[in-house]
Amino acid sequence: MTYQYIIYEKIQGLGKVKLNRPKKLNALNPEVYSELEDVFIDCEKDPKVKVLLIMGGEKAFAAGADIDAMAEGDVVLAYQLTDQSQRVQERLADMPKPTIAAISGYALGGGLELAFCCDFRIASDNAVVGVPEINLGIIPGGGGTQRIPRLIGLGRAAELIFLGEPIKADQAEKWGLVNKVVSLNELEPECEKLAQKLMTKSPVALRAAKDSMRTGINMSLKEGLKVEQQTFCMLFGTSDQKEGMRAFLEKRRPSFIGK
Ligand code: COA
Repeated sequence: MTYQYIIYEKIQGLGKVKLNRPKKLNALNPEVYSELEDVFIDCEKDPKVKVLLIMGGEKAFAAGADIDAMAEGDVVLAYQLTDQSQRVQERLADMPKPTIAAISGYALGGGLELAFCCDFRIASDNAVVGVPEINLGIIPGGGGTQRIPRLIGLGRAAELIFLGEPIKADQAEKWGLVNKVVSLNELEPECEKLAQKLMTKSPVALRAAKDSMRTGINMSLKEGLKVEQQTFCMLFGTSDQKEGMRAFLEKRRPSFIGK
């Protein structure tokens, strides 16, 4: 599949999406979101894709929503843009398979919000992340005010969102905004290594774990525990549960089929 602003490849179970609008630091305009949506739908449906990796270029993962596309906009345009960005981001967040963001350079505004919809964020040591929207007289509109406090707490989220000052990779790691920081050269191999590890797990159990976590986080602990219990029990109807436990007892590696 060929796109104007992204490159999408499927290599041995890994769906790899590279944002490719380098002259604008991968700023996310409606066309980029539309291409991403197409890719996310494909990735969701294609059983050959086991893990999705999203990456940018060396200088920027993505420097945010496209300011050119918004500058002269009115309320109606703002609704249209956020309807689209939130829909695409939700599709990514709900992806029934693991997702990884490889963050190099700037991940700002919508760029960071996109990375936030992934299960894992691995950053290179040149990464700079933040939500500078306040400096444009607006607020994050792609989930930033919702997902960031849920991940790092209100205090640190306020620091990022109210001040609009991006932070470097090591601080992002300390705050729990990214899982790990590696050198720029190691970024892609590190993400691929993580993807390979994930591919050895049962796809159906991974999906169940993701569903249980994502559903439960918005519930009371009591309700969440119920969701976990039901999901746990459901897995006893799968071949992968039988295979996983049998393999343990037979002292061999399991071979999961995702059913
Ligand atoms: N929207 C539209 N264009 C953007 C952009 C964005 N979010 N971020 C960068 N660009 C464009 C610049 O306008 C410039 O285009 P030009 O060469 O046609 O003038 C090009 O990308 C390169 O950016 P530039 O600002 O020259 O690079 P820099 O290295 O000096 O600065 C940043 C890098 C990331 C600090 C700076 O581009 C920036 O602050 N971007 C906006 C970040 C932001 O506010 N994001 C939230 C948007 S809601």
